[in-house]
Amino acid sequence: MKIGVLLSGSGSNLQAIIDATKNGSLPVEIGLVVSDNPDAFGLKRAEKAGIKAQYIPPGPKRTVLSPEAEEKYITALKEAGCELVCLAGFMRVIKDKILAAFPGRVLNIHPSLLPAFPGLEAWKQALNYGVIMQAVVPVLPNDTTKTLLNRIHQQEHIIYPMAIKLFAEKRLKISGRQVSVINNNPKK
Ligand code: GRF
Repeated sequence: MKIGVLLSGSGSNLQAIIDATKNGSLPVEIGLVVSDNPDAFGLKRAEKAGIKAQYIPPGPKRTVLSPEAEEKYITALKEAGCELVCLAGFMRVIKDKILAAFPGRVLNIHPSLLPAFPGLEAWKQALNYGVIMQAVVPVLPNDTTKTLLNRIHQQEHIIYPMAIKLFAEKRLKISGRQVSVINNNPKK
């Protein structure tokens, strides 16, 4: 299965995905990496790994893609044969057009626990919300933004490839906004 990765910056998550595909733990091929930032280091990481990488201008707005840009992103991803779109530090809100072009096939990673569930029956709220995978890191008294971010990134680099693997193995069942993981080996 081919995947596309959208990024805007460093691309350490892209690197984790590349490494996982190379060491055989993630059975997908990265068909295309696209960035809205021509200077994104992630584009260089892709090129170094021999992956097709492309800057596609995002249009004039800072937080979204223009409608023309959306079309170009969709065309590029489809032409590269990508069946799944992985957002990896893509700093723009993904709107309906891209979501409709890849229904149930856009994954994101975020460096906090999303969302928090305040109030009554937090466990019920959490179940209804539906997320694929989460990791928790401690916030330590002497942390700086750098040490905390490093700790978060370490976990992201483990769980994002794992979540993509679940998708590739067709083990994610989507109903409404809930996603559940199907265990294909019930004996385990
Ligand atoms: C990650 O922390 C991710 O959760 C967020 O953006 C950051 C991207 O980092 N969406 P990198 O470019 O993968 O290093």
